[in-house]
Amino acid sequence: MKELIAKLPKTELHLHIEGTLEPELMFQLAQKNTITIPYKSIEEVKNAYNFTSLQSFLDIYYAGANVLITESDFFDLTWAYLCKCKAQNVVHVEIFFDPQTHTKRGIAFKTVIDGITKALDKGEKELGISSFLIMCFLRHLSESEAFETLHESLSFKEKILGVGLDSSEVGHPPSKFERVFTEAKNVGYKIVAHAGEEGDSSYIWEAINLLHVNRIDHGIRCDEDEKLVELLIQKQIPLTVCPLSNVKLRAVQKMQEHNILKLLRRGVIVTVNSDDPAYFGGYMNENYEAIAENLAMSKEELKSLAQNGFKASFLSDTKKQHFIDSISVY
Ligand code: HPA
Ligand code: ZN
Repeated sequence: MKELIAKLPKTELHLHIEGTLEPELMFQLAQKNTITIPYKSIEEVKNAYNFTSLQSFLDIYYAGANVLITESDFFDLTWAYLCKCKAQNVVHVEIFFDPQTHTKRGIAFKTVIDGITKALDKGEKELGISSFLIMCFLRHLSESEAFETLHESLSFKEKILGVGLDSSEVGHPPSKFERVFTEAKNVGYKIVAHAGEEGDSSYIWEAINLLHVNRIDHGIRCDEDEKLVELLIQKQIPLTVCPLSNVKLRAVQKMQEHNILKLLRRGVIVTVNSDDPAYFGGYMNENYEAIAENLAMSKEELKSLAQNGFKASFLSDTKKQHFIDSISVY
């Protein structure tokens, strides 16, 4: 299985670029930019990554992002991630970034997006990795701040494919941002949203019915509601599932209890993703390995998961079919 996982061409559809900040780069950038971080050593950083909930992770994740200041910092961050993709045969990525995490600290939107997109362009040319960028609104902030960010993004619209919704879920339902997403859809952005990670199935219903999402990020709590699972199957709304993240943040108690295989067998378009790999202990291959080791999955099911990644992507139908066919021969 491990060999097959490494060989298969893969997509990543749920990846926060700020969540790829490895402790080594965090230290290097903190020193260069003279930013104080609350750790004395790389060892100490790694020991701090012991989470009990989404919020306990987010506190550390936002503190880590403080070391990102210049365009070259965002470039280096993104380039390091793409090199990892190359090593793991991830051939197409749809990456999230959180502009508000940076603009709130006085870093210009342009600095962030230029650094990220220069690395993505180089990745396409030199590594053959195709990519799209998705801008996420921080849901713990207000509707008006999301509107401000949406309007600011319009100057860079050709570089952004879609919008998403992340950060602290419970207490900040999709309905809070219905008007923002209506406008985002009207200007032509694709729509995704985190829902049903810690929040219950009503968050997924709202993401579908009010935000009109193209796919759901996480969505694992859909199985609390049979009608919802049926809708996901009938409308073929994909879920971008993040197995290691779910166990690390205790959305799932242990990997053996993860419902990704059950949902796959029901016909839900589930995909495998790494979310914040520097914090959760694994990139794409490690996520696939974790489920292959802990769930009784066949090779054909593993291949279906990889094919679902292409199916659920925003690639053209021709490209999707090309990759789906290329997986069937393994
Ligand atoms: N959930 C919500 N917000 C996030 C996550 C996540 O898994 N990762 C980074 N921001
Ligand atoms: Zn996420």
